[in-house]
Amino acid sequence: MTVSDLPPRLGSLTFHGPFSEDRTRRIVARLADVSPATVLDIGCGWGELLLRVLEAVPGSTGVGLDINAEDLARGRDLAKERGLAERVEFVEESALGTLRGPVDVVLCLGSGQALCDPEQPYDPGVVLRELRRLVRPGGRVLLGEGFWERSPTDEELAAMWPGAHAGDHLGLGPLVDLAIESGFRPAWIESASREEWEEFESGYRHDTELWLATHPDHPLAAETRERVDRQRSSWADGYRNVLGIAYLTLVPVVSA
Ligand SMILES: C[S@@+](CC[C@H](N)C(=O)[O-])C[C@H]1O[C@@H](n2cnc3c(N)ncnc32)[C@H](O)[C@@H]1O
Repeated sequence: MTVSDLPPRLGSLTFHGPFSEDRTRRIVARLADVSPATVLDIGCGWGELLLRVLEAVPGSTGVGLDINAEDLARGRDLAKERGLAERVEFVEESALGTLRGPVDVVLCLGSGQALCDPEQPYDPGVVLRELRRLVRPGGRVLLGEGFWERSPTDEELAAMWPGAHAGDHLGLGPLVDLAIESGFRPAWIESASREEWEEFESGYRHDTELWLATHPDHPLAAETRERVDRQRSSWADGYRNVLGIAYLTLVPVVSA
């Protein structure tokens, strides 16, 4: 089987999360305002936001860390196409305990797990303390982090990811409080809209759904169908309108 015979993956997405062009423009402008010389993207995937920040700040340089070789290769291709290859490095490396800071801007978009010990329960407090360690005074952190829009019902939890429970996320208020306890002030607080979620969730499976419709007898069709059906139902029956994504632009408070 050649690579072109395999079901496509994430090709319809610009960002690997519910993140619109409008929001991107506003966030990039806010980060560019501090004229960062160095940018670090934790769990960058193909690093679209990293590339946008570098485009907005001439002369800045960036490093993206991820453990997914395919997404990193996509990032390198995008950087080359946009004339940024000399200013950005996409590195296949775990971000856990990374020594690649401190930098002027740290991006961590839907990738908090990259900073946490996989043997321990997920803890946004660990993520925030790591981000505080990685940012220079006067810099900025952009954190994209899940929160409960409202308490999930047992039925919704049962439809989400395996083992989902109410302790998996905080509400928005406690999440921002935790950022403050971790040494930040929240410069801007926003969250993904319903439209951004629908664009993302549909885009996440779009090219795979088109492939399934034209390859019903392919040797990988049954497992691919099972996977996308499971993903769709965990959103539509589970976390839709319950799980939010907060985008927190955080300023480190200077140490006394
Ligand atoms: C939801 S994706 C977000 C990608 C990107 N930040 C974006 O918004 O387009 C989460 C990413 O975290 C990466 N990741 C998970 N564990 C990691 C680790 N220990 N170190 C670096 N990256 C990791 C995954 O490979 C994945 O690309």
